[in-house]
Amino acid sequence: MNDVLGYEGKRAVVTGAASGMGAAATDLLVELGAHVTALDVKPVERAGVQSLVVDLRDRAAIDAAVDAVAGPVDAVFSVAGLPGAPFSDVDTVTVNFIAARHLIESLLPKMAPGSAAVCVASNAGLGWQQELEQLVPFVSATDFEGAVAWCEENPKAIYPGYLFSKKALNAWVAWRGTALVKDGIRLNCTNPGPTDTPMMPTFEEQAGKEIIDAFVGPSGRRSTAVEQAWPLLFLNSARSSYVAAEALHVDGGFLGAMTTGQL
Ligand SMILES: NC(=O)c1ccc[n+]([C@@H]2O[C@H](COP(=O)([O-])OP(=O)(O)OC[C@H]3O[C@@H](n4cnc5c(N)ncnc54)[C@H](O)[C@@H]3O)[C@@H](O)[C@H]2O)c1
Repeated sequence: MNDVLGYEGKRAVVTGAASGMGAAATDLLVELGAHVTALDVKPVERAGVQSLVVDLRDRAAIDAAVDAVAGPVDAVFSVAGLPGAPFSDVDTVTVNFIAARHLIESLLPKMAPGSAAVCVASNAGLGWQQELEQLVPFVSATDFEGAVAWCEENPKAIYPGYLFSKKALNAWVAWRGTALVKDGIRLNCTNPGPTDTPMMPTFEEQAGKEIIDAFVGPSGRRSTAVEQAWPLLFLNSARSSYVAAEALHVDGGFLGAMTTGQL
């Protein structure tokens, strides 16, 4: 069976496409025959890719990029992210959650039933289900500017910005994905474990190598960017047509081991 994921001739939008998981997803999509529009603060120099240089902290820049994307859009991969320090908590939440949400919401008019979007959250967002009282109003009742303003006004609530951004993504995917599936559009996310990408040295500096290693599951190793990219392609493909409002833990068994007390 050829083209089992069905990306040949499809239009995909990928954020964070210049590096790490986003670059890996872009490479796979191009190999599979998709037309890729890449959004990143850095240019993406890959043959066959439309590169739009966008700072995701800038709502107007996102809106201009959305205008430049030819529809229909079949698959959105929201992968871009900031690791927290040295970036501020507000910038981190803006790129990791507020911009991801705004981009996907803005692309919806170009997405037909059968299309899908996936966000990259993180195992750092584990425990979001216990914080729904705060998270649901934030993810469901704010627009771009309102969400940024709330973050600026509530520095303690969003500290540390990286964890808060990933909890917000999980909560939004569960909440919003529930409504979107009724229109035939699927929204999901992944929660990766430690992955060897250019972001990793920053995590090691911030948290210490021991803490990062503690998040390595029973597989005993970090994942590669490609091992994170394939599940993203799978979730956005027609092969996952009954998977919606879901978080897939791509963590080498970490969550299973933790849940059953084996870590
Ligand atoms: N590496 C890990 O261990 C790990 C683990 C869990 C989740 N994640 C998440 O995976 C996603 C991909 O990260 P990665 O590990 O591939 O890191 P990476 O640093 O290699 O890639 C991040 C990409 O986001 C882009 N980006 C950053 N700020 C931007 C902005 N303001 N506007 C537009 N683009 C911007 C960068 O230019 C870069 O291309 C992120 O959301 C990250 O939080 C990473």
